[in-house]
Amino acid sequence: MVSFLITFLMTLSFSIIIIILLFLKSKPYCTCDVCHSYLNSNWSKQYNNLCDWYTHLLQNSPSQTIHIHVLANTITANPKNVEHILKTNFQNYPKGKQFSMILGDLLGKGIFNVDGDAWLFQRKMASLELRKSMSKNAFENVKFHVENRLLPVLSSAAGSGKDGGFIDLQCVFRRFSFEYICRFLFGLDLDSLELPFPVSRFSDSFDLATTLSAKRAMSTSPMIWKTYRRFNVGSERKLKEAIRDVNFVVERVIENKKKKLGFTKNQDLLSRFMEVSNDHSFLRDVIVNFILAGRDTVASALTSFFWLITNHPEVESRILTELEQTTNQKQGFATFEQMKELRYLQAAIHESMRLYPPIQFDSKFAVENDTLPDGTLVRKGTKVSFHPYAMGRMETIWGKDCKEFKPERWLKDGVFNHENPFKYPVFQAGFRVCLGKEMALMEMKTVVMGILPRFKLRVVNSDGGELRFEPGLTATVKNGLPIIVGEREVLQLASD
Ligand code: HEM
Repeated sequence: MVSFLITFLMTLSFSIIIIILLFLKSKPYCTCDVCHSYLNSNWSKQYNNLCDWYTHLLQNSPSQTIHIHVLANTITANPKNVEHILKTNFQNYPKGKQFSMILGDLLGKGIFNVDGDAWLFQRKMASLELRKSMSKNAFENVKFHVENRLLPVLSSAAGSGKDGGFIDLQCVFRRFSFEYICRFLFGLDLDSLELPFPVSRFSDSFDLATTLSAKRAMSTSPMIWKTYRRFNVGSERKLKEAIRDVNFVVERVIENKKKKLGFTKNQDLLSRFMEVSNDHSFLRDVIVNFILAGRDTVASALTSFFWLITNHPEVESRILTELEQTTNQKQGFATFEQMKELRYLQAAIHESMRLYPPIQFDSKFAVENDTLPDGTLVRKGTKVSFHPYAMGRMETIWGKDCKEFKPERWLKDGVFNHENPFKYPVFQAGFRVCLGKEMALMEMKTVVMGILPRFKLRVVNSDGGELRFEPGLTATVKNGLPIIVGEREVLQLASD
């Protein structure tokens, strides 16, 4: 009887807490139009994506900075502010405790989720390893991976008929970049792991874990998700299960590596970290953070690149011409040296990430009160975000044609022209600039060199409209990118 009473009272108090939280969640406590629209999701009547609504607000703000009061969030698309946050006053804008709390269950103490010495140590270790990513050897590895893992998947989807076949390109790129990052950074062949479930389940769990972690940041009070987590219900229960799957696989990766480490003098990122630490929990965090860094970003960048290319045949044909002229072959890969000559391709890749940056916005927390260069006052503890997605669409930065996909804007007299990184913080900028930029660019170019000359891609039901994204840490196209793929040679024969 007593135990029944205790259970009843616990259930009752838990239900009351949930009801109060749901009430608080739905009740606007700032009456300004922007907060009202955020809390009631009114913005979604006019915009497909939250980032498009923010872009609209930023474009119309004289200072290019806005405030979402209910999130205590200042968001800017002003390059001078971005430089201030990422470089000039870097010490005042760490990731902060709030951020590490939100992502702590998934990212632990990995490089993306820490500041200070813990960050600097991992950055130094990783930069030693990632320097190798621009070597001829690394290029041969990516090429091997493209030829043996990626192209066969597309060939088999294309079949031998002139109608081609159907495939989800986003899914293919995620699998490809995941396998490649595991091989390059952890010296690991995923097929050798002998898991009790398919690798795709790990991928799905990883995606779910990042999506649900990101959703925590969108809630108006951390109390909401913390209570769900405390009682292990709703999205927090799903997040816990997804992280359990991720941890299970990562544990196998560590075990596998430990076995091999005694036999070979392994030089990859994971062995480097294992030489200095035996702490499984830290090694787990290293692996998860680098998978996030190298898998989702590259896959996202490739997905939007190919989506844009299918909608811009003139760009596709210029890339093919440049490739053919550089390699003197119709379907050849450029060599490591020739790749540096592919300036139009380099421009097209940068241009696609200008419009569709894989990380659409990035946030820091102010340690002390501050004033941004545009005069915006920042109170201690405020979340300050900059928004590469909106910045790519600002007339003030890119001119009147900012919404157009024009690779030429990156070329001056045929030479690739690097932009100021604070205007184009797609790889971030300043002290925490991305360590994998060159590796990512090389991977993307190699994928394009492999796919474009061999396959013709057509987006299913494309009306040339905009992409819709899932909320998450990296830009993920909602429901994937379904395409029809056909072998160019077969299509050519059929049309002759
Ligand atoms: C197109 C692909 C990529 C894009 C757009 C990109 C973008 C970014 C951005 C925006 C950040 C800052 C994130 C933050 O601090 O919140 C970052 C950091 C980082 N990226 Fe990348 N990245 C890409 C690919 C890669 C790859 C392939 C690697 C290699 C594994 C990598 C390694 C890293 C690392 C280690 C950091 C942390 C740097 C630090 O905090 O000091 N990235 N990247």
